Amino acid sequence: MGLAQRERRDIWYKVAKAMGYRSRSALKLLQIHQKLKILDGIVSAVDLCASPGGFSQVLAEYVKSSNHSSDASYIPVLGIDIQPIHDLEGVEFWVQDITDQNLYSDIIKHFMNDKVDLVLCDGAPDGFGTAFEDGYYQEDLVLTALQLAIFILRPDATFVVKVFRGKNSRLLTYRISHFFESIVYAKPRVCRQSSCEAFLVCRKFNLPSSLSSQNVEELREAFWRFIYSITDIPSEFNVDYIVCGEAKYDADANYPELPEDFEYSTEVKPPLMLPTNPAYKIACELKKQGKLCKTGKN
Ligand SMILES: C[S@@+](CC[C@H](N)C(=O)[O-])C[C@H]1O[C@@H](n2cnc3c(N)ncnc32)[C@H](O)[C@@H]1O
Repeated sequence: MGLAQRERRDIWYKVAKAMGYRSRSALKLLQIHQKLKILDGIVSAVDLCASPGGFSQVLAEYVKSSNHSSDASYIPVLGIDIQPIHDLEGVEFWVQDITDQNLYSDIIKHFMNDKVDLVLCDGAPDGFGTAFEDGYYQEDLVLTALQLAIFILRPDATFVVKVFRGKNSRLLTYRISHFFESIVYAKPRVCRQSSCEAFLVCRKFNLPSSLSSQNVEELREAFWRFIYSITDIPSEFNVDYIVCGEAKYDADANYPELPEDFEYSTEVKPPLMLPTNPAYKIACELKKQGKLCKTGKN
């Protein structure tokens, strides 16, 4: 499957590839970290919606030592996605839907009954086309990630989630703010300014007192009741919005030629990650065998 024309010329795509990252998303996480130091001191992390694994590559570079490092089978970074992901040293990948209700207990088991320092979620549902519908489904994914995170984050831990900022994102942000001592929106320069995405960086996890008294079985339902009970946003509620990363390249610009000071090698490299099980694989096989026919034409 060919790349979209926009990605072919995207300068950050070229930088990510030259640096050996599987996706330009890796650079978004690096830029957030440069500004907010979210990866310092992290010994365990979960990367929700991780495919193709750019965030996980960065986590593998930063999350190294841990209490369990004497156990050779212990892997401190866990990446989860509904799509399969190619192996990566220092990361364990699971093919799973993050809406799966039993996922949290498997995650806790993976971390040897410890909770984790950091949960990331860069999830995006398959687009439905209109900004309103995409925003609606993405908001649902954000809250699902938060609901999972409250089971697996240790107190004071960090949660970073991608939000499509739109009509309802202020209420979404206010709802999430009840679970953390501080929140801030980060916009890496790798993101196109034309995109409404930004990352909500939430620090110092602290379960609201009305939820901390719930037992584990009741916590999930209590979470949703709590979330939907928050309907009014106080006028004084405001969240800082910061831009992260050097202003060296413009993600929205069209660079038909690479800038003269482009510091990375442009030698053609093989793909960093071949598709695991692309949707078009069967069609290619059938075509090779001459069994692919066009429908709808006489
Ligand atoms: C923008 S990509 C993530 C890129 C990734 N952070 C990286 O650095 O390479 C969004 C991912 O969300 C995943 N996703 C969407 N809904 C999901 C769900 N319910 N459970 C698990 N993964 C999901 C998609 O499969 C897709 O791979």
